[in-house]
Amino acid sequence: MSSYITRKTPGNTAWFTHDRFGMFIHWGLYAMPARHEWVKNHECIPEAQYDKYFRYFNPDLFDAREWARQAKAAGMRYAVLTTKHHEGFCMFDSAYTDYKCTNTPAGRDLVREYVDAFRAEGLHIGFYYSLIDWHHPDFPIDRLHPRRRDPDAEQQNKGRDMRRYAEYMRNQVTELLTNYGKIDVLWFDFSYSQPDAADLPWMKGKGKDDWESEKLIALARSLQPEIMIDNRAEIDQDLWTPEQWQPTEWLRHKETGELVTWEACQTFSGSWGYYRDESTWKSPEMLIRMLVNTVSCGGNLLMNVGPTARGYFDDRAQAALKVYADWMHFNSRSIYGCTQAEPEFHAPQDCRLTQSTDGKRLYIHLFAYPFAHLQFHGLAGKIDYAQFLHDASEIRFTEGHMAHFGDNLPESSDLVVFELPAIKPPSLVPVIEVFLK
Ligand code: GLC
Repeated sequence: MSSYITRKTPGNTAWFTHDRFGMFIHWGLYAMPARHEWVKNHECIPEAQYDKYFRYFNPDLFDAREWARQAKAAGMRYAVLTTKHHEGFCMFDSAYTDYKCTNTPAGRDLVREYVDAFRAEGLHIGFYYSLIDWHHPDFPIDRLHPRRRDPDAEQQNKGRDMRRYAEYMRNQVTELLTNYGKIDVLWFDFSYSQPDAADLPWMKGKGKDDWESEKLIALARSLQPEIMIDNRAEIDQDLWTPEQWQPTEWLRHKETGELVTWEACQTFSGSWGYYRDESTWKSPEMLIRMLVNTVSCGGNLLMNVGPTARGYFDDRAQAALKVYADWMHFNSRSIYGCTQAEPEFHAPQDCRLTQSTDGKRLYIHLFAYPFAHLQFHGLAGKIDYAQFLHDASEIRFTEGHMAHFGDNLPESSDLVVFELPAIKPPSLVPVIEVFLK
């Protein structure tokens, strides 16, 4: 069994740390300007201009079942959809606002269709809910708000009541966790309570006291006792969420030093929301390596898709999902039910290791394909059988020395030398599956 002990979590994380791989979906009115989900902030777009997106939002090609099919084929076992992003627009039929998808030409509860379709495909269901809301009349203008540069911004702030907004969030979280069945993940985003040079004298950031996070989280857990909640409401919960960077070791709690349950969230390109003209799309190799690297450090990967305003994944996103589908079809055994390899195993150069949580299988992921042999110290005497994972073809090995004119190498009792074909197999990242004694 895995020897790693992680910090206790309030929610049920067992399925999560087994399934390892999820789909993040950033979808909202911002898909219409198609210039990043922060476009209203970046361009300080006036309300009247942004309302045009509300008036014309009509995802007539939206088919949640197709989304779910692609997510499942890619090997993703859960999904997290933006029910409301910073723009404040609700992708669900909320009784507490008119700023919702059912009041647009879409005319339907998009969250409902997402939940039904992804649940039907057997995926766990997650909701992203933005604590930030640039539309709500009680949300105080601050350094991130699109109205921050308005000449009368300070005046606009008069009368805004953060307590009323915190209550609005509790009401909507109640709707989300009551009306859509079992929800497995609640993904709040994000707190910025530290003072900042961008704060005008009358501005302040926002954190757990503004969100009334303790009440909000207690409410969520009363409605869905098993739910997993991230820590971006500024109170440690189930999930740590490194974003747009790749950890190189298992994350630890900064005070206690405990290993934590963590999930790296990343984008296919340079934007979470659909961004038509953004071109920094990750290579196929990078996509696979990010997934493997994450699991090799004991974490999950939540990889994001930004659907178009017509309601479909564009060609680039579909191609990226296909990269995952093709690799996971043959290699998911090194991901599902796996975690960081035991401390006794040290990855050879250009390799990443994962190990089944029952301790019986070790997976060697070849990030750079070695010439003819792979030397692995610390494995001698521990291997019952070894094969390529993708085609189950045997990988032979010798122990103690390099058999092929290796006389100049010192004998090494813990050395295993795997013999590899000269030609790299047809896999972005070939995997050696080692059955341990
Ligand atoms: C950051 C971005 C937000 C995105 C989130 C995803 O908070 O501001 O747009 O939804 O990352 O983790």
